Amino acid sequence: MKSSFFASRFSSLLKEKQIKQIDLVHLAEANGIKLGKSQISQYVSGKSLPRKDMLHFLAHVLEVDPDWLLGAKEEPQKISAKGDDTMKTFNKSSKLENVLYDVRGPVVDEAARMEEAGAQVLKLNIGNPAPFGFRAPDEVIFDMRRQLTECEGYSNSKGLFSARKAIMQYAQLKNIPNVTMDDIYTGNGASDLINLSLLALLDNGDEVLIPSPDYPLWTACVTLAGGKPVHYICDEQSEWYPDIADMRKKITAKTKAIVIINPNNPTGALYPKEVLEQIVDLAREHQLMIFSDEIYDRLVMDNLEHVSIASLAPDLFCITLSGLSKSHMVAGFRVGWMILSGNKKLARDYIEGLNMLSNMRLCSNVPAQSIVQTALGGYQSVKNYLVPGGRLYEQREYVYKALNDIPGITAVKPKAAFYIFPKIDTKRFNITDDVQFALDFLREKHVLLINGRGFNWGEPDHFRVVYLPRVEVLSDAMGKLSDFLSHYHQQL
Ligand SMILES: Cc1ncc(COP(=O)(O)O)c(C=O)c1O
Repeated sequence: MKSSFFASRFSSLLKEKQIKQIDLVHLAEANGIKLGKSQISQYVSGKSLPRKDMLHFLAHVLEVDPDWLLGAKEEPQKISAKGDDTMKTFNKSSKLENVLYDVRGPVVDEAARMEEAGAQVLKLNIGNPAPFGFRAPDEVIFDMRRQLTECEGYSNSKGLFSARKAIMQYAQLKNIPNVTMDDIYTGNGASDLINLSLLALLDNGDEVLIPSPDYPLWTACVTLAGGKPVHYICDEQSEWYPDIADMRKKITAKTKAIVIINPNNPTGALYPKEVLEQIVDLAREHQLMIFSDEIYDRLVMDNLEHVSIASLAPDLFCITLSGLSKSHMVAGFRVGWMILSGNKKLARDYIEGLNMLSNMRLCSNVPAQSIVQTALGGYQSVKNYLVPGGRLYEQREYVYKALNDIPGITAVKPKAAFYIFPKIDTKRFNITDDVQFALDFLREKHVLLINGRGFNWGEPDHFRVVYLPRVEVLSDAMGKLSDFLSHYHQQL
């Protein structure tokens, strides 16, 4: 009796939670528990019941009470199937159907499940400096504390005067033309403004050129706004620079804008002026507006200089986005901005839309705005990390070499930010599914990487490494990758 209760509850939960038997095997392995496929088949068919420790493990994974799973409790764990059928359910909006954001997606969910079950996972999936020991400059924290009591109310919807003034002066230093205080909007991170600026611009079916690989928020927000993301290739053979011929090929009568991410996430590329000029020429020829995501512009290495594309396009309408999340290691404060520049006459109506959406959200986080002036002025302590002996520089040197030393892996050296986007020899490892690759590595070695397709890259032959951890930790992770790849042969 008990075994049939258990079997039916167990198999229907597996189905409901879309957990495959092989997933359970891997999950058990990751937790040091021996569980074979034949054992699971016995449970499913009701031929045997799990022992106490196994029952607790299965109940934990399936997020149910062990007694209920075993059939000891008469009460249903949740509403019965009959009840479900008659109840109205709440589904996500169809607007989200094609939206992808794998930086916090299925591989990350699996990592969370493993952590819940007690495993330790090294997370190299997200560019979040603080957990890796990067601290905000003392002055920033001091000044925020001092101003906190003055930040209790809403600010002007575009932001505090002091913050916008500092951003305007920053725009002047970057030679971004025709920028007044009215052209600056602060947001809860650049993310907030990527969403807002696309929502205000796009009609259904409008096309936006986006890099592949990209930081996937851009593709997601274009889709959410009803637009159509059209990906242009960034060329690994040419330092991951945008392939201008491919960009040109993809422009249609419906194209409204070009997005560039410079410096780039996930490749770490920094675009030279000549490449930017070619993009401006194309935008000029086809009357497109330009979005430039420059959140990493203060994290550039090798004595290179970041050029804002807007500085080369005074006759076009441009939006430049940036923020303090990365340069000042305060990703959690949520403070970013956008700067409208160039030929604003072309965008009068759009700017009305931007203002409307900006007003609707009242304002961005005011305590975070209060430190923009402090952060952008004076000595930029982030520079210490980016020169020989500095953490980011040394970590980049290490990870670049360690990856290229692994047979079957090649990687272009990043020039900025803290990501590297290596290529895997898919034939050598029989890889056809890069999510599976990331899952297999995670389950065996407890290291979380994001597969390349998560960045709207078309082939299953790349992955991204966030090289924020210290060299000792990176060394452990690279050792694990090398070990894993010494025997890996993908089986689906
Ligand atoms: C290219 C790029 N743009 C924007 C963001 C979002 O930044 P924020 O923290 O300002 O929302 C990120 C975060 O990783 C990023 O990599």
